[in-house]
Amino acid sequence: MLVFAASDKGGTGRSVTSANLAYRSALAGDDVCFLDFDFGSPTATAVFDLPVGDLDVRETGLHSYLRGAIGTPHRVDVWTRTEHSDLRDRPSGSGRLVLFPGDRSGGEFVTGDDQLHRCVDLVLRLKREFDMIVVDLSAGRSYAMDLVLAATAPRGGLDRLKRRWLVFHRWTHQHVRAAAELTFGERGILRAGELLGHRPEELDGSIRFVRAAVADLDSPLWAQVTPAQYAWLRQCDQRLEQLAAVLGIGESRVLASIPLEPVLQWQERLITDEDVFDRRIADHGTLDSLDGLTRRLYDDSHWGEL
Ligand SMILES: Nc1ncnc2c1ncn2[C@@H]1O[C@H](COP(=O)(O)OP(=O)(O)OP(=O)(O)O)[C@@H](O)[C@H]1O
Ligand SMILES: [Mg+2]
Repeated sequence: MLVFAASDKGGTGRSVTSANLAYRSALAGDDVCFLDFDFGSPTATAVFDLPVGDLDVRETGLHSYLRGAIGTPHRVDVWTRTEHSDLRDRPSGSGRLVLFPGDRSGGEFVTGDDQLHRCVDLVLRLKREFDMIVVDLSAGRSYAMDLVLAATAPRGGLDRLKRRWLVFHRWTHQHVRAAAELTFGERGILRAGELLGHRPEELDGSIRFVRAAVADLDSPLWAQVTPAQYAWLRQCDQRLEQLAAVLGIGESRVLASIPLEPVLQWQERLITDEDVFDRRIADHGTLDSLDGLTRRLYDDSHWGEL
């Protein structure tokens, strides 16, 4: 399965949440790879806690591969390379977890037929090795997004692969509007896909939304606020829910809502069972919703006919 992680804005939780999704899928036994297609800001490596040397990929990463400078992009085996102590011993029963980093000095670049062929070739090769390929795209309507839309269009080369789009957004007025615009707007995913030959209803059916860093007003974290503040927050929450529904990204299209997690507010990282049950630094609800996201991604009943 190909999973595209997209967002209109930066800082939505796209990389951290999709890296956690990759991690949890690998824990559950799948062979998973994570492609950092955030061409402008390829920083996904840090989330996996890789040593500095592994972060310093300069002419061997996905940028160089797609530009044709190298034949095979650099790959990092997360279980063996990570400095995260909980991950170092690969749990029995878990699948592979491999990261394909972008070049550190890389930036956005225009893509054409050559890049399209290289992208298709890479994914077809990886498909033989991995059950799940997570692709973290640049924010907004980017070259990276256009590239994968072209690759998955009819006769694009990847059109036979099962694929799912996750559009990440934070739970604010501006983010909700931006996520809807990225999906349904004049320059959005659906319109761009249609121009490339995608069947609109099929592409639409492959898109779900992930709300990240959502404040759970029932959590004890909010016990300290005044009654007036609390009433205001509740009202905001309801208004956002209404706005999301009107814009077509209401609850029926939401695959998961990841709570505001204090650990993630301070550090971009994988949330482990040890963080929740042994160290007790991360919330149980965060783990539950990450697991729910992973489960629903695979569960066809959440995806209609796809
Ligand atoms: N559920 C959460 N609760 C609290 N903070 C979060 C949550 N998810 C992500 N964050 C934090 O929000 C920040 C942005 O997240 P992340 O880097 O994943 O976003 P992004 O959309 O990939 O951003 P960019 O466009 O810069 O790549 C990070 O500091 C991250 O740790
Ligand atoms: Mg990111």
